[in-house]
Amino acid sequence: MKFDIRDLALADKGKLRIEWAKQSMPVLSMVKERFTEEKPLRGIKVSACLHVTTETAHLMETLKAGGAEAALCASNPLSTQDDAAASLVRDFEVPVFAIKGEDKETYYRHIESAIAFGPHVTMDDGADTISILHSQRRDLIPQVIAGTEETTTGVIRLRSMERKGVLAYPVIAVNDAQTKHLFDNRYGTGQSTIDGILRATNLLLAGKRFVVCGYGWCGRGVAMRARGMGSNVIIVEIDPLRALEAVMDGYAVMPILEAAKVGEIFVTVTGDLHVLRREHFLEMRDGVVVCNSGHFNVEIDIDALEAMAVSHRPIREFVEEYTLPGGRRLNLLGEGRLINLASAEGHPASVMDMSFANQALSVEFAVKSKGRLEKKVYPVPQEIDSEIARLKLRAIGIRIDELTEEQEKYLASWDMGT
Ligand SMILES: NC(=O)c1ccc[n+]([C@@H]2O[C@H](COP(=O)([O-])OP(=O)(O)OC[C@H]3O[C@@H](n4cnc5c(N)ncnc54)[C@H](O)[C@@H]3O)[C@@H](O)[C@H]2O)c1
Repeated sequence: MKFDIRDLALADKGKLRIEWAKQSMPVLSMVKERFTEEKPLRGIKVSACLHVTTETAHLMETLKAGGAEAALCASNPLSTQDDAAASLVRDFEVPVFAIKGEDKETYYRHIESAIAFGPHVTMDDGADTISILHSQRRDLIPQVIAGTEETTTGVIRLRSMERKGVLAYPVIAVNDAQTKHLFDNRYGTGQSTIDGILRATNLLLAGKRFVVCGYGWCGRGVAMRARGMGSNVIIVEIDPLRALEAVMDGYAVMPILEAAKVGEIFVTVTGDLHVLRREHFLEMRDGVVVCNSGHFNVEIDIDALEAMAVSHRPIREFVEEYTLPGGRRLNLLGEGRLINLASAEGHPASVMDMSFANQALSVEFAVKSKGRLEKKVYPVPQEIDSEIARLKLRAIGIRIDELTEEQEKYLASWDMGT
């Protein structure tokens, strides 16, 4: 079996951490149990490009339990957990191509290796596999049944491919399932982004002016948790509706040029390009912390920062201190890559439980629908979404009410008023 990881000797540690994660992933475990009996993915090869974490290991195990073969590479050069990668290779016989901190060239070489596996299904977090398959390995496309996409940025890229008529096979937008973005993007990114900032800096958040750029699913979560830690949160938006929501949620809202003057910690979670750039760096106070939790490392214009700085040095692990002319210092965390995965461990397993149950069930749906789906981006079927919510509630021991017959009738009627 070919693979490329940091060190197989890390496998023992990885195995224990994978077991720990599994304890908080009951829904995926239930899917795995059914897959073990029914083998719905027999003969299917999956090339997965996801953050290589302990939770992803559980997903790989689930796919294999369903009869699939899976190869895995990283969806970000800094997010790989080398111990989880080692255990996946040694204990689960999954070929992994991922090393934390790999350079760009290695990152893309690793994606090519996972693609060379010859997939029937691609699984992406940011659409890199699909992008490379479409540009460099079109020879492999005819055998691909479908793909899945995990994150907002990937879904945006895929919708653009669909609109331009270049998408060559159907893709399920896992991100758009309610049991994904309502929990993973909001509570997962919310908590783990704060965790990443704290592990990288050990700063006190209480009383800090904390600027969140983007009040989408992730931004809402980050803002909510930063406020919970006692920060004074400022929201930056370009969408009037989201900005208004932030105002009514009780946050200060202002343009980034104003926020740049007063902020002490900045987090970008927009999926957009150069949200923090030269003109903003020029306004920032001495000692500010700047980081990103959006998918790609494009939200902060790092090239501009490097060009402006008179010097820079790593001052702590995951913290690069840039000194600007005049002596002001700006601290960039995790090379501008998603900070929750760079300096922390990504989302807690409990939310990945639902995201990855969506992945596993979407692959099953795509394989069962072979030949019936068009070359489009599809939502996760509503039944899958509801089933995951039902299973999660059951797993955590929460019961809810059911409609009475009278209520069902009332809600289905149009003629009953007061
Ligand atoms: N860190 C993680 O683990 C993680 C998890 C899930 C998603 N993501 C990524 O985070 C990003 C955001 O995801 P989301 O689900 O919140 O998306 P979303 O579409 O719900 O929210 C993005 C928000 O950013 C705003 N925005 C866009 N450009 C802006 C600008 N220049 N200035 C200010 N605001 C701007 C948009 O109006 C929108 O409200 C995506 O790149 C997504 O892939 C990261």
